[in-house]
Amino acid sequence: MDEKYKKLIDEALKIRLNAYTPYSNYKVGAALLCRNGKVYLGCNIENGAYSPTACAERVAFFDAVKNGERDFEAIAVVAGDDGATDLKYASPCGVCRQVMAEFCDDDFKIILPKVKGSEIEDVKIYTLDEIIPFRFKLKEFR
Ligand code: THU
Repeated sequence: MDEKYKKLIDEALKIRLNAYTPYSNYKVGAALLCRNGKVYLGCNIENGAYSPTACAERVAFFDAVKNGERDFEAIAVVAGDDGATDLKYASPCGVCRQVMAEFCDDDFKIILPKVKGSEIEDVKIYTLDEIIPFRFKLKEFR
């Protein structure tokens, strides 16, 4: 795998530890790579009223967009229970896929590692088109 994607996974693993998850105890980290090389990070932030909860992917996207970024290459996402050392493949929720659809091209990469201890055991890489085909884009559908 590309060295830059390994680094992206490491950043997702680190930011995951900052997730605020008193309700689910499920911690998610996301590292979003822009085509200019900059990386924006997100973790999930839960809320006692539940619906205000923000997913890690959206926290990363909104930080990037707020900072003027519009051109994205890839996102690494890692997830697992609080304290877990073995992390199964994550899978972005439907709402986060729709946020990706707003800003990213068909070939945007979603990088989903399986982690055991400090070792990346395997990585699945999907394109945006694979994980959300026939997606809604206001510009194209009106
Ligand atoms: N979560 C994410 O951060 N990203 C996803 O794509 C799936 C779900 C969070 C939301 C909530 O804090 C916890 O995982 C359990 O659903």
